[in-house]
Amino acid sequence: MFMDKKFYLETFGCQMNVVDSERIVDLLRQIGYSQVNSAEEAGLILLNTCSVRDKAERKVYGHLGRFKPLKDENPQLILGVGGCVAQQEGERLLEKLPYLDLVFGTHNIHKLPDMVRSVEENRGRCHETEFLDRETRIQLFPQRTEGDSITRFVTVMQGCDNFCSYCIVPHVRGREVSRPSAEILDEVRALAAAGVKEVTLIGQNVNSYGCKEQGEIGFAELLRQVHEVEGIERIRFTTSHPKDLSDELIDCFGELVKLCKHIHLPVQSGSDRILQLMNRGYSREQYLGKVRRLKAVCPEIRLTSDIIVGFPGETAADFEDTLSLMAEVGYADVFSFLYSPRPGTAAAQLADDLGAKEKQARFDRMLKQQEAVSRATWEGDVGRTLPVLVEGQSRQGGDQLFGRTTWNRIVNFDGPTELVGKVVPVKVTTNFKNSQLGELATGTEN
Ligand code: SAH
Ligand code: SF4
Ligand code: F3S
Repeated sequence: MFMDKKFYLETFGCQMNVVDSERIVDLLRQIGYSQVNSAEEAGLILLNTCSVRDKAERKVYGHLGRFKPLKDENPQLILGVGGCVAQQEGERLLEKLPYLDLVFGTHNIHKLPDMVRSVEENRGRCHETEFLDRETRIQLFPQRTEGDSITRFVTVMQGCDNFCSYCIVPHVRGREVSRPSAEILDEVRALAAAGVKEVTLIGQNVNSYGCKEQGEIGFAELLRQVHEVEGIERIRFTTSHPKDLSDELIDCFGELVKLCKHIHLPVQSGSDRILQLMNRGYSREQYLGKVRRLKAVCPEIRLTSDIIVGFPGETAADFEDTLSLMAEVGYADVFSFLYSPRPGTAAAQLADDLGAKEKQARFDRMLKQQEAVSRATWEGDVGRTLPVLVEGQSRQGGDQLFGRTTWNRIVNFDGPTELVGKVVPVKVTTNFKNSQLGELATGTEN
């Protein structure tokens, strides 16, 4: 019998993995494990991994290497890998890393308790990376209703059917499935009853929610129904695919007061030629048209984006198109990434002949241009009194609390803990790179 029932879990990647990790924690607790914050104390170490870019993947291998000495010291230690690298590599991971015990894919989290038991009982190393059929996946959407925080992610769909030519996600998460709306609403109601004030509806492409399920409502209607739930004060969603951002959904930003005035709308490139090679399904002008509509419906809306620099064949002119689009939209923040070829994707077949030096130069230029726009945007908040949903005590300790503005910006300010869970007016006094400092005020400007 294995005695040391403590586990250590590290999570990489996107919100999907954050939610999957919460599920992993639940399942391991059910088989008697408790979570610890350091790998050295644990009898079971798990990494929930991301393979979206080469850099993310290498990070995982680096971390695994770090745990090898622990395994050398304690052969009873169980070491496992889940998530997107696990899905991508499958059994190969066990071959590459002889000290690894288990590998579980993105559709196989529910099998984890059996896998851990099997390793505990010395039945050998194991891997489960099979994709499941649609019906089984719909049944397996975890229903999570305990409310131990003010904000929560709620999964509305999983997988992706878009096959953007550079992207590994459809290959490691499988086809798109939407969760039944009745179940989503039950979860949101239960979370509200448990004290949750803000929900973020998540999926790889939430805008196409429900489109492929017979008789299901669409995403705009789902938002309206979530908006009806008493106790929920704020709603966010991510990620939006521009091609599926309907006029009906754009109108929600004008109609639904609980919907935060922020949308993450990844553009990837400002060049029509590159957008086509990326298989994104929209043109520069179509994208800009949607941005104009968003701003018309909700003048205070702020946009953020993801952009890939150095996609195969990107010319200097293509890159200029991206810079000019960024300037035109005026994003509050941009997450820019150097293109990296991913195994099995269509773009991995394209000649990637732009030199590393030129890619880096473009990347740096983009960063510089965006930094100025971001700074101007966030510094513009200084002196304004904004509604902030208080999420808890800030890491600085003392009497400091933290919360977020409608634009998802963190604000720290002094106040009593009774304010946690409330929306309060905070006057922003200082802007930092990633957060703001403020003071409690008596009334908001809007
Ligand atoms: N489903 C989301 C995001 C998926 S991955 C969407 O469609 O927007 C997050 C971001 O990683 C992408 O928006 C893209 O900018 C970046 N990314 C994905 N694959 C990449 C690759 N091969 N190289 C560089 N960046 C990549
Ligand atoms: Fe990847 Fe495109 Fe799907 Fe986003 S929409 S997950 S970028 S394939
Ligand atoms: Fe990474 Fe997988 Fe998310 S590849 S971005 S963790 S879906």
